[in-house]
Amino acid sequence: MGPPDVILGVTEAYKKDPNPNKINLGVGAYRDDNGKPFILPSVQKAQKILDSQNLDNEYGPIGGIQSFTDASAKLAFGENSDVIKSKRYATVQGLSGTGSLTIGAYFLNRFWNKSKDIYLPTPTWGNHIPLFKDAGLTIKQYRYYDPKTCGFDFSGALHDIAKIPEGSMIVLHACAHNPTGVDPKPEQWKEMSKVIKSRNLFPFFDMAYQGFASGDIDKDAQPLRLFIEDGHQVALAQSYAKNMGLYGLRVGAFSLTCKDKEEADKVMSQLKILIRPLYSNPPITGARIAEKILNSSDLYKIWLDDIKTMSGRIMSMRSKLREGLKKEGSSKNWEHITDQIGMFCFTGMKPEQVERLMKEHSVYLTKDGRISVAGVTSKNVDYLAKAMHAVTK
Ligand SMILES: Cc1ncc(COP(=O)(O)O)c(C=O)c1O
Repeated sequence: MGPPDVILGVTEAYKKDPNPNKINLGVGAYRDDNGKPFILPSVQKAQKILDSQNLDNEYGPIGGIQSFTDASAKLAFGENSDVIKSKRYATVQGLSGTGSLTIGAYFLNRFWNKSKDIYLPTPTWGNHIPLFKDAGLTIKQYRYYDPKTCGFDFSGALHDIAKIPEGSMIVLHACAHNPTGVDPKPEQWKEMSKVIKSRNLFPFFDMAYQGFASGDIDKDAQPLRLFIEDGHQVALAQSYAKNMGLYGLRVGAFSLTCKDKEEADKVMSQLKILIRPLYSNPPITGARIAEKILNSSDLYKIWLDDIKTMSGRIMSMRSKLREGLKKEGSSKNWEHITDQIGMFCFTGMKPEQVERLMKEHSVYLTKDGRISVAGVTSKNVDYLAKAMHAVTK
């Protein structure tokens, strides 16, 4: 018997707890202010249109629905990007962010002949490690989070990156870093891009939260676009789980930018060769929804508002939690709660404090002190602030 998944373990413990005030801050899924899953109005409208079209359920292409993959590349790189204008990208549909990362990991293991070493930030999304390892790559790390400031360890990261052997691969969270919620500032990204270029490293962007961090899809994609402007060739995994709420429909994309269109065609052919024995072709339902939203100007506008609704609610809960802790009389510096961004907040609470939160207050979260701010609502935020103060004073 293998060990249970850490996050699912938190949910199991939450489900068993009879306390009516219990809160689950473990899961990384958006909830509305009543703590309920949220189906985006743009998604509901797209679903209605699709229902009325009576489409068939034939197999899709190996690389996925092309009107979806083209729109996805445009969303990430920006429609005025040289990558899009000169069609020097190879994009395939993937099984949400995880499946898209996996395609990339397999591809790089097969074709990146300079190194097998892939550098991940410490900490990183837990699934990155087995995912890249299972694909045959060797996991290495660079400093990222500074527990002293609950912020970005910029000098530590630069120092480590500057020493990475040339030709290695490096994973970068494009925005809303999971699990810390800590992102580099624009000028820090600029420095990182320079050092990564000078070491000839291959950047692999994981963009699971475009739009979800700031509420602005262009702002959130800025680090990726900066790297392109600086002349990097990049790999990119996108997920529509969070920003469209398509979690279980598994919609994502994997892209490689290439030298030119001819190289992109070759890469595309190899991606298809890789995908065919893995799962043959991706599911069509979710990609049809995403494609409708991305390619219809009316739905697209509604979607941009939906993103603002979600990211706005999360930001307001961050402020309320910080205010609540102050009201409780906490003398600790909780600035990082509002400085951090996206769904997660690395609170800085120690494992013993987390244990007490669960046992004494029925507040459930992962041992590393990460809370999903999406699970905080205007009804439970005061209770949460009280509980956090009780275990940290
Ligand atoms: C950093 C990061 N990458 C990728 C994913 C992929 O998620 P999914 O496969 O559900 O799109 C997540 C989800 O939590 C994530 O936080």
